[in-house]
Amino acid sequence: MKGIILAGGTGSRLFPITRGTSKQLLPVYDKPMVYYPLSVLMLAQIKDVLLITTPTDMPQYQRLLGDGSQFGIKIQYKIQEKPAGLAQAFLLGEDFIGSDNVALVLGDNIFYAPGFSQTLLNASQRESGATIFCTAVNNPTQFGIAQIDDNGDVISIEEKPEKPKSNYAITGLYFYDNDVVQIAKDVKPSARGELEISCVNRAYMEKKKLKLEFLGRGFTWLDSGTHDSLLESGTLIQALEKRHGYKIACLEEIGYTNGWLSKESLLKTAKSMKGTGYAEYLENLVK
Ligand code: DAU
Repeated sequence: MKGIILAGGTGSRLFPITRGTSKQLLPVYDKPMVYYPLSVLMLAQIKDVLLITTPTDMPQYQRLLGDGSQFGIKIQYKIQEKPAGLAQAFLLGEDFIGSDNVALVLGDNIFYAPGFSQTLLNASQRESGATIFCTAVNNPTQFGIAQIDDNGDVISIEEKPEKPKSNYAITGLYFYDNDVVQIAKDVKPSARGELEISCVNRAYMEKKKLKLEFLGRGFTWLDSGTHDSLLESGTLIQALEKRHGYKIACLEEIGYTNGWLSKESLLKTAKSMKGTGYAEYLENLVK
């Protein structure tokens, strides 16, 4: 399975902060925001990743993440000239996807829950159809919204509805079979001029090939797109890390635990960041 991270867009809701840098490079406590969605792909055992971003931001991502080998993965890059919508990821990524299944994660989405790795593995092992992840929100006009029947099946999907039929938001993490490339090609731009991911999900729903994973109470999903949510995300990660002593979304740790990184590579990275708490954490992992 392949993985795509969408890390483009203008980040306009965070102006003036994002006038000078990409939103997904902003810090969320002790790591750049993009580490969190990348960790989700790695926890789903995905080693082959395409990061899509703007022409101006691309060099910064390459400086930060390189070819991914320091995490035990392979990262390639692709430019999105304009933010033409999430579904464009599958058109830009067509060659990268080839004949594989693919997961898409939005670069500003942060997920945290005990046991989430197993949920991710289940989704990545499903060979056909699509899997989406929903959770309750109190501002449903801001998201893709799913209406769910008593059997737990999705019966309608609307993008940022004025009158939401439920308060179940579709989070920015999606697993698809290879049909997604063709489905994305058939998507027409919406009234706001974007190729909407909700159209892709609706196509799977209509074919009865859409699986819903419901993320219940105790699950944390943060979309760090506003000043308040960015600060809240950082504070929450800080609280969790301090409380437990474990880092969330430490990419070297996930690579090492997955058996993709040697002890030597981990220590090499630690040495390159000597004097930081992050380096100390990596050193302690191999002790
Ligand atoms: O966060 C979940 C929501 O994400 C879903 O509930 C919605 O269905 C989905 O449309 C999306 O809504 P947003 O309004 O949050 O999308 P936004 O335009 O903010 O873009 C999300 C991320 O993707 C952001 O990090 C920027 C990046 N992006 C966005 C677009 C439109 C790109 O890289 N390229 C793009 O063309």
